[in-house]
Amino acid sequence: MRIAIIGTGYVGLVSGVCLSDFGHDVVCIDKVEEKISMLNSGKVPIFEPGLEELIQKNVAAGRLSFTTDLAGPVGDADVVFLAVGTPSRKSDGHADLAYVFAAAREIARSVKDFTVVVTKSTVPVGTGDQLERIIAEENPDADVAVVSNPEFLREGAAIEDFMAPDRVVVGMNDDRARDIMAKVYAALDPQKHPVLFTSRRTAELTKYAANAFLALKLAYINEIADLCEQVGANVQDVSKGMGLDSRIGQKFLNAGPGYGGSCFPKDTLALVKTAQDHNSPIRLIETIVGINETRKRAMARKIERALEGDIRGKTIGILGLTFKPDTDDIRESPALAIVQALLDKGAVLQAYDPEGMPAARGMMPEISYRDGVDEVAKDADALVIITEWKHFRALDFDKLKSLMKQPVLIDLRNVYVPSQPLSHGFVYDSVGRADY
Ligand code: UDX
Repeated sequence: MRIAIIGTGYVGLVSGVCLSDFGHDVVCIDKVEEKISMLNSGKVPIFEPGLEELIQKNVAAGRLSFTTDLAGPVGDADVVFLAVGTPSRKSDGHADLAYVFAAAREIARSVKDFTVVVTKSTVPVGTGDQLERIIAEENPDADVAVVSNPEFLREGAAIEDFMAPDRVVVGMNDDRARDIMAKVYAALDPQKHPVLFTSRRTAELTKYAANAFLALKLAYINEIADLCEQVGANVQDVSKGMGLDSRIGQKFLNAGPGYGGSCFPKDTLALVKTAQDHNSPIRLIETIVGINETRKRAMARKIERALEGDIRGKTIGILGLTFKPDTDDIRESPALAIVQALLDKGAVLQAYDPEGMPAARGMMPEISYRDGVDEVAKDADALVIITEWKHFRALDFDKLKSLMKQPVLIDLRNVYVPSQPLSHGFVYDSVGRADY
């Protein structure tokens, strides 16, 4: 298959690279020349384990290229993937589809033979219908079928998620498109990685329903964690006890400072809006959006309590700023709200993150950024683990104690067994563990 991918953001780049690895001829297109010239010189604009090697392999094999030209590759393509950004609109929380629609108009002007146009970006239910109308309006002769093929990959595990997905969801209302999409994913073993064909609206909704369900699981275990703290129980054991029931499952039951990232906050909000617009409100999801927001500020109060209630003028060392490990992404990271709350209360902050500091510097200029754990610990009144990077899993407590003003550790990801820091004389608090 000849495939064109529009948008070399996270989803677009990973999808393009992996599809070329499946053996297809792939051209990745982006308007930002800087990104394209970077990619053409073998560099990757995002941090994702394994991506650079896979790009080099497929470029060398002649299956993968990058360009700013849309018309040429789209004209030659059997399938065009739309993977441009769909940020939340500040005014109303709806997904902003301006980029998607603009790209659709350009595609309409460039297609030649029958072409399948696939939305990979997470788009609200009914967007496929709108795209079909826009394309027909722009070019009534265009022979195009619009397909929804939402992406479920996680940052940090994106390649594995694309190459070995739990499932692929493909929604369309056109048999020719179905045959072509079956070929796009022919490299996947259907026994292990089933491709589920549905109607287009069903596929669009499935993505939101899945992400909101995972967010729900997290909000739930986080509230159970709060209750554990009050009744003297251990949320990790509760999670295990729940998760061993195969109907529940063990994944996504790690309590923490609240979920973040480029998907869950945006997609839960968009689902809430869609449901309200269709007079079918999903109150469960409305509720968890609020719960997750409140939680981040509650984490700042937890830190305050560990420091006996007053953090004005105290130095707090922050370990981890990204919304999760193995990414450089700080979008909607719980760290943003926690940091702001600590600053509002007059704390002085110093931080280290293995990959997130370039992005963090712009968004949190009040923090003093350090080069490693020891530098963050120096003269600190407390250390806070916000992201569970592997770099923070084997801290040298005796050394940290000698560097800090006082040994206080607040572990918002339950990285440690409490006895570890406690036995080194630390004051220690974590999330939902009150049985020690
Ligand atoms: C998510 C979905 O998993 C993916 O399917 C979708 O395509 C995009 O959104 P991603 O945003 O990369 O992927 O991150 P994910 O690994 O799902 O984590 C999301 C947030 O939940 C992070 O802030 C993470 O720290 C938090 N989380 C996750 C927990 O707090 N506890 C857990 O047990 C799991």
